[in-house]
This record gives sequence, C-alpha cells and structure tokens, in this order.
Amino acid sequence: MRLLVAGGAGYIGSVVTAALLADGHEVTVLDDLSTGHADAVPSGASLAAVSLHDSAPVLADVRPEAVLHFAARSLVGASQQQPEDYWHTNVGGSLALLEAMRAAGCRRIVFSSTAATYGEPDQVPIREDAPTRPTNTYGATKLAVDHMLTSYAVAYGFAAVSLRYFNVAGAAYGLGERHATETHLIPIALQVAAGQRESLTVYGDDYPTPDGTCIRDYVHVEDLADAHLLALPAPSEGEHRIYNLGNGRGFSVQEVVDAVREVTGHELPVVVGDRRPGDPAQLVASSDRIREDLGWAPKHTDLAGIVRDAWELKDRSAPHHS
Ligand code: UFG
Repeated sequence: MRLLVAGGAGYIGSVVTAALLADGHEVTVLDDLSTGHADAVPSGASLAAVSLHDSAPVLADVRPEAVLHFAARSLVGASQQQPEDYWHTNVGGSLALLEAMRAAGCRRIVFSSTAATYGEPDQVPIREDAPTRPTNTYGATKLAVDHMLTSYAVAYGFAAVSLRYFNVAGAAYGLGERHATETHLIPIALQVAAGQRESLTVYGDDYPTPDGTCIRDYVHVEDLADAHLLALPAPSEGEHRIYNLGNGRGFSVQEVVDAVREVTGHELPVVVGDRRPGDPAQLVASSDRIREDLGWAPKHTDLAGIVRDAWELKDRSAPHHS
C-alpha cells in the first residue's frame, strides 16, 4: 500500500516504518522533527518535514491509501504543566490530519492511543471496555482523538483502529529510544548502567504490590510493529476498533532493575524516592481482543530479552540528557 506515517521520525513511528517497508509498502513520513530525528527515518521512506497542522498539501500530493498516526507530545508530566501544547498538537494536529485525509479521499487510519486513556483501573488486566478516566492531560488528549475517530467512522466512513499501548520498550531494525527528555524507566536504568547517570530513583516502594514497587506491562516495540501490520487492513468502512497492546504480564520496577543488572552486568545503584504523582500501582493489559480478532501474539515476552535489545542498541557515548 501507499502509506503516510505521521510521526515516523520518532521511536515507535520509525520502527513501524521500517516494518512497513520490509513488508513491501511505500512510505512517506510526515514529521516536524520537534522530538523526532531525521536520521531515524529508515532509508526507503521519504520525509516531509512539516507539522500535522500543515499536512494537507502533503496528503494531497501523496494520496495515501492509509495513514498511521504516531505524531504527538507524550510526556505525562509536561502535559500537566503546558496543557495547551498537548491540546494543540495532539488534538488540534490530529483534527487537521483527519481533515487533510478527508480532502485527499483517504479514510483508513491506525492511531497510537495509550493506556493513559484508562487512568487508575478498577481491575487488572485492563480490558477495552474498562472505564476511560484519564488522570492527566496527555491521556485526555489521546482519548479525545479516540472519540474523534469514532465520529469520523460514523459520519464519513473512516476505517480506524486505535492501538492503546502499554509500556513500549526494546529496539528493532537498529532503532531505539532517543528522547531529549527521558522519563521512562528502562532507558533511564540503561543510562545509569552506561555511566551516563549516577543512580536510578525508584518512585516509591510502598505500593500495594508484592515487592512494593509499581507493576507495568512492557511490550516489545517489534511486537507492537507486528500489531500495526495486522491492524492496518482490519477495519471495514465505518468501523472504529480499539485494541490494547501489552504482554498481559506485569513486571515490577524492582524486577526491571534486576533485569537491567543481569543484562548489563552493572550494579545499578538505586535510590528509593517518593511516589511520582499520578502513577497507578498496576497497569497490565488484557490483549485478548487483538489476539482473538487479529491473531496477534507477542514474541518477545521475556523482560530480560526486551532490556537486552535496548541495551545492545544503546549509544553508550551519547551525552547525558536530563
Ligand atoms: N519509574 C521509576 N523511576 C524512574 C522512571 C520510572 O521508578 O526514573 C517507575 C514509574 O514510577 C513507573 C514505572 O517505572 O512505575 C514505569 O514508568 P515509565 O515512566 O517508564 O512509564 P509509565 O508507566 O509512567 O508510562 C507509560 C507510558 C506513557 C503512558 C503511561 C500510562 O510510557 O506514555 O504508561 O499511565 F501515559
């Protein structure tokens, strides 16, 4: 297919672009490079370096058969401090993209949604019919776009899929996480192991979990890419599907620390700090729906393997980022 990947210069978008190219698709990446990197765009894809708000001429030119939409601001903390940036980029930008699609006669889309749309769960594993009560602006903006897609499916016959990612990690196709502002557990722990940070702060060890640290569902970015390939042709016109993407198995922060120690051979100094506001004790996906509907089955469910893939790719000479 002829595809447009919005946000294809970012971590997940670039990996999925590589997977799409390997599957024989023709890809144009649209990315304003505000957080992505031009050199992450896989060779074989062309790059239009514009924002979602200016996407109409690109869509008119490329005439894609489908769009995969990864372009967004994605830091929970920043979304609380500068909500206007999140509403403008994530919601305003997505609206501009959907309108550009409509004008170009393209109605098929796969959208990167998030576990943050659910907020604090009543029960885990979290199914797609769980209540959506986001506890931060980031999650609220992603949920707003999910609603937008439902209404475009009903009104304009869009064929849409929202994939609600849990904790994406690992590396594939020579591409990994490279954020100027790193907030995620595994990359930070690997920075400590690489000598780029002194210690890892564990945000709270008094949660109601077996070892007191938070439990998350880490899903390998390559398995995530497989899910996009399966999701792309799945919905029919007028249909908006929502799928959770996780391994269905939770690992605690302490278990991640142990895995990083094992994989890197580094002692990994740890300091126990306060809880981070808004962190639920446990977020684990039920991915039964995508397994049953599309036959998706994650191949990299072993935590040490996910950590190892990220570690092997990591540029150990990269400057320290805070
Ligand atoms: N953590 C630490 N120390 C750190 C960083 C993280 O202890 O330096 C802990 C967090 O408290 C949390 C776990 O490690 O318990 C994972 O934290 P991440 O920041 O890596 O990921 P989150 O679970 O907070 O975030 C993920 C996605 C977000 C999404 C969110 C939904 O990355 O995009 O789930 O709640 F919004």
